[in-house]
Amino acid sequence: MKREHKKDNPKEMIKIFDTTLRDGEQSPGASMNVEEKLRVAKQLQRLNVDIIEAGFPVASEGDFEAVKRIAEGIKGVEVAALARANIKDIDRAWQALAGAKRPRIHTFIATSDIHLKYKLRLSRSEVLKKTVEAVKKARSYTESVEFSAEDAVRSDRAFLAEIVEAAIDAGALTINIPDTVGYTTPMEFGSLIRYLKESVPNIEKAVISVHCHNDLGLAVANSLTALQEGARQVECTVNGIGERAGNASLEEIVMILRTRKDLYNFDTRIKSEHLYPSSRLITHITGMAVQPNKAVVGANAFAHEAGIHQDGVLKEKTTYEIMTPESVGIAKSKLVLGKHSGRHAFKDKLVELGYELSEENLEKAFERFKQLSDKKKEIYDEDLEAIVADEVLRIPDRFKLIYVNVVSGTATVPTATVQIEIDGKTIQDSGSGAGPVDSVYSVITRITKTRSKLLRYSVNAITGGTDAQGEVTVRLMEKGHTVIGQGAHTDIIVASAKAFVNALNKLEYKKKKVEVNL
Ligand code: KIV
Ligand code: ZN
Repeated sequence: MKREHKKDNPKEMIKIFDTTLRDGEQSPGASMNVEEKLRVAKQLQRLNVDIIEAGFPVASEGDFEAVKRIAEGIKGVEVAALARANIKDIDRAWQALAGAKRPRIHTFIATSDIHLKYKLRLSRSEVLKKTVEAVKKARSYTESVEFSAEDAVRSDRAFLAEIVEAAIDAGALTINIPDTVGYTTPMEFGSLIRYLKESVPNIEKAVISVHCHNDLGLAVANSLTALQEGARQVECTVNGIGERAGNASLEEIVMILRTRKDLYNFDTRIKSEHLYPSSRLITHITGMAVQPNKAVVGANAFAHEAGIHQDGVLKEKTTYEIMTPESVGIAKSKLVLGKHSGRHAFKDKLVELGYELSEENLEKAFERFKQLSDKKKEIYDEDLEAIVADEVLRIPDRFKLIYVNVVSGTATVPTATVQIEIDGKTIQDSGSGAGPVDSVYSVITRITKTRSKLLRYSVNAITGGTDAQGEVTVRLMEKGHTVIGQGAHTDIIVASAKAFVNALNKLEYKKKKVEVNL
């Protein structure tokens, strides 16, 4: 039986703290440069998240720059920067955040004995002291200070309560309880939040936040249980990307609260029609595809395969649909434009897909659309997404592919000529290889003077037909850094070159990051 909440009992608003740009970017393979992060931040603003965690400024110049640009450019949302519990990190976080209208410093230290003994080599009293100093320092800069007790779930409960109380006394307005290693279960996590509510005397002065990792597939379930026990902020990421198995998925939390209004007396400010466009944006920028059966945003999330299901949905949608595709922003029509479609129709379709481009970017994308429509009769949503990703979303750092030409066939040695712009200077070279892709990749490697190892190469047809665009995905490794690159084109050799250059740019960016001990 459905439990209806009374109309005079308004929903409590849960804060959505998005950490796609910080914890999400820590996903193996994921990497975004400053411009890409800025694009994501704009989309998160459109989605209407409450807080954007923009990065970890002390980690690299790129992280610092990204937080600074987001803090200065995104005014409608609170912008957070991560800092370990030390003065240097907090000063750096503040330097990056100073231009924000609503800045938040998020400082953290581990509290579990495992972390204290093996990682920090500190005693509990030393950790307590550092916590108080860090929170006070952060409070000297801004009112909005969040403190996280890293590995809270595996910490001694009494010590955790003591440190939470001290952090609140020192001025933290948000207390985050992370399940750093994705170890807990709903029952256990719920009881931990209840314990803190009952045993920390000043707990009502702070908002309790939760930050769950998904190592056992329970991140969303654990977050929801925490809400029922008094947490009022959830930390999550688009597509659930993040360290190892990822973080709690933003779209799942939001849609559970919306779809099961009868069970939960909570809501969020998220504009759910931007969920799917946000998911696609993250996929295109990071190169990390979403599994087809992923809840809410997977390609099959609204596909009905069995005849009996299709029949049911045709008669009455609610037979097999618990939410509508439109409510999460999945476009109504798939078949779109052709050779004769004008700029206006093109722009409208992009807006329907969630892309609001500047005039300059619109022009670039339209040019590419025209070229594609000369080669391909029917252009689908997926084609447009690939164009936008290629032309607008993935922003080159150092290397820009200008030109690629290949000669290959049954009776010739495959030979490639490539032109690349590096830091504004154009360099051209040619060479041969085992096949066309091999020759292109060895010429690009020579021009860019890089030493990456190709771990994976795959090519997919974006739509059906021999005139389809090919989307190439590559995974590269250099000096312990792994990245994913993507490129799309009707010529798969050109798509391969684009994907390789995209990945090399990401590697350049990643190599600049210093390894900081989280
Ligand atoms: O997982 C974790 O504990 C974190 C903290 C830095 C909040 O990401
Ligand atoms: Zn985390």
